[in-house]
Amino acid sequence: MADKTVSLKDNSSGKTAELPLREGTLGSSVLDIRKLPKELGHFTFDPGFKATASCESAITYLDGGKGQLMYRGYPIEQLAEKCNYLEVCYLLLHGELPSSTEKEQFETNIRYHTMINEGLRKFLDGFRYDAHPMAMMTGVLGSLSAFYHDSTNIHDPDQRIITAHRLIAKMPTLAAACYKHSIGEPVLYPRNELSYASNFLWMMWGRPTEPYEPDPVAAKALDVLFILHADHEQNASTSTVRLAGSSQTNPFGAIAAGVASLWGPAHGGANEAVLRMLDEIGSVDNIDKYIDRAKDKNDPFRLMGFGHRVYKNMDPRALIIKKLADEVLEKYGDDPRMELARRLEEIALKDEYFVERRLYPNVDFYSGIIYQALGFPYEMFTVLFAIGRTVGWIAHWMEMISDPSMVIGRPRQLYVGPAERNVPDLDDR
Ligand code: SDX
Repeated sequence: MADKTVSLKDNSSGKTAELPLREGTLGSSVLDIRKLPKELGHFTFDPGFKATASCESAITYLDGGKGQLMYRGYPIEQLAEKCNYLEVCYLLLHGELPSSTEKEQFETNIRYHTMINEGLRKFLDGFRYDAHPMAMMTGVLGSLSAFYHDSTNIHDPDQRIITAHRLIAKMPTLAAACYKHSIGEPVLYPRNELSYASNFLWMMWGRPTEPYEPDPVAAKALDVLFILHADHEQNASTSTVRLAGSSQTNPFGAIAAGVASLWGPAHGGANEAVLRMLDEIGSVDNIDKYIDRAKDKNDPFRLMGFGHRVYKNMDPRALIIKKLADEVLEKYGDDPRMELARRLEEIALKDEYFVERRLYPNVDFYSGIIYQALGFPYEMFTVLFAIGRTVGWIAHWMEMISDPSMVIGRPRQLYVGPAERNVPDLDDR
């Protein structure tokens, strides 16, 4: 079938370019503009990349209108229901769900990489006790390239996969170590008999002085949350990992860049910001005042956990998390902020401003309520997001690095600075 094209005519020069139109398996087609500068002498202009596809990918698909999310074609609702987080990691990395034998082997591979180099434990001692855990994680992730010289040859598929195993395995150990550092307690070693989420709970809440058995309800809730946060197409932090990795730097440095990007309150930092917002609102009586502030263009206040670049419908993850929150609160005791969040959602979704702009709760709106119920301090919320998202970052990095057509990312610009001029002598300035 003849390739589809779009004709673009520059009315000022009269020149026309025939641009290939490419269709994916699902979703929007894309206009391939790579020959535009040569044929018409123009760049495209798209700050924030709201209308730009940066790559082709087979990992995750979102339909923002329907509120649909799929990892390798499997709907997120089914994965959250029928799989555990490590099965989903295998799926994102390899493209298919593991057989029972593959699942067992993968879990063993991850289990035997959960320890961290003893030198890393000393690295943490350099941080002030009150350092934000995301600041520590950004530093620690980047430092991993100083420990694993045997797996930074990005062109060797075996080294790429061992790096993936190391990062997935060590994120919970590093996250818990940052938390223990911040409270002055000893960093705990992982326990190989525990599952991925239970091991994390042990390293977070355990102490060398007494036995501790992780609560299965908490472990299950965390495992589902890790699945829901595992990947999300070309979001800001994943795009950061791709751009950083496109220079062929080591994967640990690229992932550290992703952690730094995720920390922003417009992105993964929103889950911490939601709880602070709910605390500030305080009571249902104040909701209207804060909704008005969120709508006021002169007020920097935004409804945290609301709105999304792609979803113009309910974020499917928020629906699952809202239900999970009810289950967790049933076990751990109600939290008045859950009722406050529900009322806030109800009122906002009836307000013309939010309806018109199709602003719905996103993944961050209810997740913090669960984290809080499980005992995590606010500062750890985005670290929990990073644990889940690490596999997504790695899957995209691997997809990019193994693509033979990969080139370094290097956007252009619309220059609006001064035209050429001569440097005046100092006495004339
Ligand atoms: C995540 O990309 C991903 O997939 C991210 C993520 C993932 O899994 O990786 O899903 C995770 O980051 C979720 C988003 C978490 N962030 C927040 O909850 C912060 C609050 N949300 C906003 O900052 C905002 O909605 C963004 C950043 C999420 C999206 O911003 P966009 O796409 O750039 O949209 P926009 O800022 O252009 O907003 C469109 C309009 C604007 O009003 P107008 O100029 O049209 O009058 O909606 C308004 C905005 O002012 N608006 C909000 C709002 N979000 C958008 N107004 C009040 N409160 C909000 N939360």
